[in-house]
Amino acid sequence: MTALDTSPARPLAWDPVAKALHWSMAALIPLAWVLAIVIDAFPRESRGPVVYAHKTAGMLILALLVVRVLWRMTHTAPDTEKTPWEPLAGFLVKAGHGLLYLLMIVVPLGGIATSFARGKPVPVFGLFDLVGPWVDRQPFAGMVTEMHETAAHLLLIVAFAHAVIGILHHVVLKDRTLIRMKPFAKA
Ligand code: HEM
Ligand code: HEM
Repeated sequence: MTALDTSPARPLAWDPVAKALHWSMAALIPLAWVLAIVIDAFPRESRGPVVYAHKTAGMLILALLVVRVLWRMTHTAPDTEKTPWEPLAGFLVKAGHGLLYLLMIVVPLGGIATSFARGKPVPVFGLFDLVGPWVDRQPFAGMVTEMHETAAHLLLIVAFAHAVIGILHHVVLKDRTLIRMKPFAKA
């Protein structure tokens, strides 16, 4: 968008749908991560339900992401709050959000690839199973698992940094960045 753009005025805050999608995913992503981390704490024969819960949380994240991207493409986002470090800060915010979107796509798709590489199906909310094209073969399965795990850790690290920056906006810069994303808050 350019300075000459006269198309619809930017809203002052994120709309309720964008907020609901943001906060439900902000809860589900760490949940999916924790479920994956605790899998190894269970004896092999009782890991099934935890793996199922992990895959289902991951598939829900993917489904919500599709809705979120479609919503984002069809609605105007509020303008980013200006900081004393423009234009660099504005560019970094866009790059950071872009990276988060990219990782939110790559990680669940990598999870599906991990299941397929292990010769395991992906349950889709108990409705049906997606069956992959591969049989379980090492070292391929191990390599795909490792890539999924690394991308998942990176997503959590970037999301954590993003949350800290959001809080710093509120506490140090005292701007409206966090308030605009606050559930149930008025614009
Ligand atoms: C944002 C979503 C996701 C996150 C944050 C995530 C995170 C992780 C992490 C950190 C691990 C490594 C656990 C470890 O061994 O230490 C893992 C493993 C795994 N993930 Fe995901 N994952 C996500 C989505 C998915 C999806 C959508 C699927 C498949 C439908 C999936 C399937 C798997 C499988 C099969 C493993 C190997 C589990 C095992 O060791 O038995 N993940 N995931
Ligand atoms: C897994 C966790 C999270 C992910 C993946 C995530 C992802 C994102 C993304 C992609 C955006 C950009 C929205 C867009 O341009 O469409 C965003 C915005 C935002 N997020 Fe998060 N977020 C997470 C957690 C948090 C947390 C914990 C906070 C609070 C401290 C937070 C505060 C915000 C704020 C204030 C905005 C609006 C930024 C602005 O208006 O410029 N996020 N988030």
